[in-house]
Amino acid sequence: MERVRVLVHGALGKMGQEVLRALCRDPELEAVAGIDIKGEGKELLLPDGSRSIPLSADLESTLSRYHPDVLVDFTTAEATMPAVRTAVEHNVRLVIGTTGLSTANLDEIESLCQSQRIGAVVAPNFSLAAVVMIHLARMAARFFDHAEIIEMHHEQKVDAPSGTALTTAREMVKSRGKAFVHASATNERTASCRGSDFEGVALHSVRLPGMLAHQEIILGALGQTLRIRLDQISREAFMPCVVLAIKKVTELNEAVFGLNKLLGLEEENW
Ligand SMILES: NC(=O)c1ccc[n+]([C@@H]2O[C@H](COP(=O)([O-])OP(=O)(O)OC[C@H]3O[C@@H](n4cnc5c(N)ncnc54)[C@H](O)[C@@H]3O)[C@@H](O)[C@H]2O)c1
Repeated sequence: MERVRVLVHGALGKMGQEVLRALCRDPELEAVAGIDIKGEGKELLLPDGSRSIPLSADLESTLSRYHPDVLVDFTTAEATMPAVRTAVEHNVRLVIGTTGLSTANLDEIESLCQSQRIGAVVAPNFSLAAVVMIHLARMAARFFDHAEIIEMHHEQKVDAPSGTALTTAREMVKSRGKAFVHASATNERTASCRGSDFEGVALHSVRLPGMLAHQEIILGALGQTLRIRLDQISREAFMPCVVLAIKKVTELNEAVFGLNKLLGLEEENW
């Protein structure tokens, strides 16, 4: 079987390096080139030390020269869209993990893929555990009136609550079809001690050294609680689904958003 030829866009970044490590581990995949704005005219030694691949800042000429099947993008929202347009022109499929893309960006990816019949997987969270957690939370949300989410991250994370916590709350409310019941304290002794209120879901953000990315969803009913807990301990957590997306995208001729379809977690399969 021919190996899938992969180009990593953002190859010198934290996620780009992790993707290259994952490609080295999988015999069905082959890293053929790296693109990084900091990488003009250099070679890049693969993380397993086995060989070097070309590294450049020029996507157009690299695509013409090395003919990858798939471009994996972990860069910045500004860098992603020009790369998408160039890759689609070259019939290269896309796996996009960069966050912060606008609705207009997502619409453009969808229509470019549709008109060129090119596959793409776009997911702001490639963590298998996070995707399954949200799926379980959606299921549980139908049976409980009260829910709180405690998200816990390293102290350098600037945004709060996390995107994953907000997505979880939004999906839980959508699944139930109405807001949760938020039990407010009538006498709050310190400001916001009951967290923020997203349609009845209390959201609490913890920022501490010693943590990476964690989340606990607590659902409550008379005499019982249910907890769903996520712990991500390294960037490796994203790699099983990145690898899955690279393999599956070769069979797609449209853009797929999120990982539910790839993992068979669509609502009709519950
Ligand atoms: N989808 C997920 O599961 C997931 C997980 C982790 C991170 N992310 C996202 O992935 C992105 C990258 O994260 P990171 O931690 O690797 O960041 P990083 O800053 O370590 O890496 C980004 C890389 O992109 C390169 N780059 C920037 N502009 C470029 C351009 N115009 N052309 C080519 N290369 C360019 C940078 O030089 C850098 O090497 C972020 O948007 C982050 O939020 C997504």
